[in-house]
Amino acid sequence: MFESFDRAVDAINSGECVSSAAEGLVDSMTEDEILWILDGDAPTWEGLGYLAQGGYHKAPFGAAVIDRLNLPGVLFADGPRGCVIGNSTCFPVAVARGATWNEELEERVGEAIGKELKAAGATLTGAICVNLIRHPKWGRAQESYGEDPFHVGEMGAAVCRGLQKYVMASVKHLACNSMENARFSVDITADETILHEVYLPQFKRVVEEGVASVMSAYNSLNGEWCGQNSALLSGVLRDEWGFKGFVISDWIFGIRDSAKSIEAGLNIEMPYRMIRMAHLTDALATNEINFETVKKLAVQTVAGILLHAEILTKPKPPISVIGCDEHRQLARQVASNSAVLLKNESVGLNPVLPLTPGNLSLGVFGHLAAKVNLGDGGSSDVWDLDCTTILEGIRQKVPSVKFNDGTDLLAAEELASSVDTAIVVVGYTYQDEGEYIGSIDPALSELLPGKDEADVVENWKKFIERQIETEVPGHLSDRLGGFAAGGDRDSLLLHNADVDLIKSVVKVNQRTIVVIQSGGAVIMSPWIDGVPSVLQAFYGGCRAGEGLADVIFGDVNPSAKLPYTICTEADDYPVFDKNAKEFIYDGSHGWWHLIKTDTSPAFSFGFGLSYTSFEVSGAEIEKLSDYSIAITGNIKNTGSADGAEVLQVYVEIPDRFPRLVGFKRVEIESGEKKDFKIEISTERLATRNKDTHSWNHPQGTYEFSLKRYATDPDAQVLRIEL
Ligand code: BGC
Repeated sequence: MFESFDRAVDAINSGECVSSAAEGLVDSMTEDEILWILDGDAPTWEGLGYLAQGGYHKAPFGAAVIDRLNLPGVLFADGPRGCVIGNSTCFPVAVARGATWNEELEERVGEAIGKELKAAGATLTGAICVNLIRHPKWGRAQESYGEDPFHVGEMGAAVCRGLQKYVMASVKHLACNSMENARFSVDITADETILHEVYLPQFKRVVEEGVASVMSAYNSLNGEWCGQNSALLSGVLRDEWGFKGFVISDWIFGIRDSAKSIEAGLNIEMPYRMIRMAHLTDALATNEINFETVKKLAVQTVAGILLHAEILTKPKPPISVIGCDEHRQLARQVASNSAVLLKNESVGLNPVLPLTPGNLSLGVFGHLAAKVNLGDGGSSDVWDLDCTTILEGIRQKVPSVKFNDGTDLLAAEELASSVDTAIVVVGYTYQDEGEYIGSIDPALSELLPGKDEADVVENWKKFIERQIETEVPGHLSDRLGGFAAGGDRDSLLLHNADVDLIKSVVKVNQRTIVVIQSGGAVIMSPWIDGVPSVLQAFYGGCRAGEGLADVIFGDVNPSAKLPYTICTEADDYPVFDKNAKEFIYDGSHGWWHLIKTDTSPAFSFGFGLSYTSFEVSGAEIEKLSDYSIAITGNIKNTGSADGAEVLQVYVEIPDRFPRLVGFKRVEIESGEKKDFKIEISTERLATRNKDTHSWNHPQGTYEFSLKRYATDPDAQVLRIEL
């Protein structure tokens, strides 16, 4: 028995195993304390009010804190594109960072976000979203890294490494949470093979990286809500993957049945004293659940926290790190490294991009160019005050730039015909796509407690007295209640006004560059033919303007690659039904879907142009051990600009779609030749056997392709016997 958290930590440092130290600490808790650590520490009704008044951006939400035992519990604040508390640094959204294919850079982003979170008083964050972009209409596509499980897993692992230098991280939303409006009502059916080979590998990867926590999804999976899904939370997560951390529910109605959620293995209901508080005592009294099971969950939570005691006891960085210059520099670097150059044809002798500032006469068009456009207005929203628009970024390079917001097409045409080059900024905002903060089933409100507990309210109010001063940014003035409505996109096309603007400009100016701000794919067929140059810029964070200008003017050579497939027509994607009550995930989305339907993409997964050219030679494959192989070779920058290429390795798997199994971003100066080595674990070739509930390991001859993108016609094919 340990009478305090510190004694348990000392015992671990002297060799005691974490789980028995956790048991020892839980043994010294009262029954009420054990029940206390099963949910958030904030009262439901007061907490909801606080959230609606912007409290989400002022203080973390605590859970499992017991002062008597000095148990720190968790202090949660979100962070997929930056720390949500305070006026912190807004980084480009995760899908943009996915386009960098740069794990080292993503680790640095994780570290910066983690540092700001820690300074803001948080100890746990939900910054890692690895649900796959099954369809570009998914409102939260921007919060994840892309459509491919391997790529998403590696990027998620990278941000986890960075974040956990300062705070514990939670990976979300387990599992199959790839539609937004129906997230509280849809049941997803996915068979065991598809789950384990497509929708779960990226979660497993982040668990292997040592993530402290997993957040369950709102939706139901194979007939049970994820927050009370024993097959998922116990069967897969703990029993099969050996997860040693704690599971938290998604916020508010992340569970429906307190007893079932305990039985299934969900450790903490977030963020309030809500459904468990209202119903668990009855469930215990009627023996629907027994106290031993409750205690087991408490031990898991405490063990998870003890495992990360070192992070928790690290001193807080000064508050000045929030929004500091160093992080803004990093945000700019990420913005420039994430802009994907999709098209860059010559007009006259040279490709339109890069531009040379000099005496250039330049016009910028579209209202988004002059708007701080950071993405989702839901839980990932960052209230950054110091953001530059695309227009401001470009103006820093070309002070004489002229602007037309596109509302008057004749005026736009007039300006476009008077300048050398035109940049048209189009796309979406948080009103078109993002987290859905809309109505939910009114029957759910019956699960809520009648009222808050007076002592809980009192203690919690004391806690939020320490909240951080947070100013509401001016660019949020068009939002009611602080959150945007968001939701799944209605269309994959640009708004008509954007298309009309592009057409008006390009009609009179051949040197037109279209810049797209969005969280996912946009269908370009109605306008792209006449446009020589297209850049996919996503929501580029607080330095979107400078970052994009660095690419447009060639200070940074584009090296980003699409983390998803862009189809020619909307019908080329699989079905998406934003109001579905039931939906089958058959594992064929993205580039796999196009293989299945034998359709060419407009732009392939993994595709992106550069201002230079590369030549790969001497590719070889070798077995390093029974568990790993390596592909080696060299790559030469044959053009006149320094640049970076992302080498991608795909493999054919019998009876399956091919898989991406490795990638490496290589930076090379003009004229330079570099060796590369891409190591691949043979585990990535395994196939799931749903009869034995285990993996079939690779055997026989495997064909690997070294490519620049999934449909690369110049792939170098290498075979090996395993
Ligand atoms: C979102 C989660 C988020 C949580 C807390 C929920 O509405 O679905 O992704 O982590 O809020 O911010």
